[in-house]
Amino acid sequence: MDNIIEIKRLSHIYRETDRGIKNISFAVKTGEFIIVAGQNGSGKSTLFRHLNGLLSPTSGDVWIHGKAVSANLAFARQIVGMIFQDADCQIVGQTVFEDAAFGPENLGLSGKEIQKRTTGALKQLGLLHLKDQNPSTLSGGEKRRLAIAGVLTMRPEVIVLDEPFSNLDYQGTQELLSSIIWLHRAGHTIILSTHDLEKALFHASRVIIIHEGRVAADDNPMAIIKEVEKFGIREPCSSKFGMGIVPWSS
Ligand SMILES: Nc1ncnc2c1ncn2[C@@H]1O[C@H](COP(=O)(O)OP(=O)(O)O)[C@@H](O)[C@H]1O
Ligand SMILES: [Mg+2]
Repeated sequence: MDNIIEIKRLSHIYRETDRGIKNISFAVKTGEFIIVAGQNGSGKSTLFRHLNGLLSPTSGDVWIHGKAVSANLAFARQIVGMIFQDADCQIVGQTVFEDAAFGPENLGLSGKEIQKRTTGALKQLGLLHLKDQNPSTLSGGEKRRLAIAGVLTMRPEVIVLDEPFSNLDYQGTQELLSSIIWLHRAGHTIILSTHDLEKALFHASRVIIIHEGRVAADDNPMAIIKEVEKFGIREPCSSKFGMGIVPWSS
């Protein structure tokens, strides 16, 4: 299988704190579902901000389909759709529809195409019935799915989600998780970060542990599960109790 993303000896050190990420290398293949796990401050968001060129490396580089991100920003952003840690800040429209249509409108697509993409994305995220509502009236989970819908209208191959489950209630988490699983089945490559493996681990094909800015482990979920606690990540209960890795909710 082809590598979509290649991260090569990537380092980013913030001058103010002398912290960041150090010498990170891995490649992402089409169709993978990768969890990037690490405790707070380990470097997950810093790593993700390099995947579409929001940050520039101190050294090393990220390649997308063989092109350096730093020299091909527009291309990188078309391939990699990013849902930020604080997805509520990604909301820009007066209505749910307007918000999701923002990307295709900026691309200068025809009205018909904007309509098609936006309606399709809202439908896929289960938000079409809310299309005329003001985004501020949505629940936390709905807001996060709206951010995904906005990204989806741009038809990205890879969807990157930074701590998507933070501060969501049970229902919001469940619906968001279903949407992410659906996106993966629909052919998107998924990369998501979390400090809590419980929710998505069952669905992941690979886990990369970031610890103090470096890749501490990179393997399939079963191979990694007993190792996570030494990196400050809680082992899922099912695994602790000898039941292996099970879906978070049924
Ligand atoms: N804008 C910034 N300026 C200075 N230091 C930062 C900045 N953003 C993050 N850091 C530091 O870099 C390290 C990694 O942070 P971050 O990538 O946000 O980790 P995570 O997303 O895993 O919580 C932390 O030590 C953090 O304090
Ligand atoms: Mg973060």
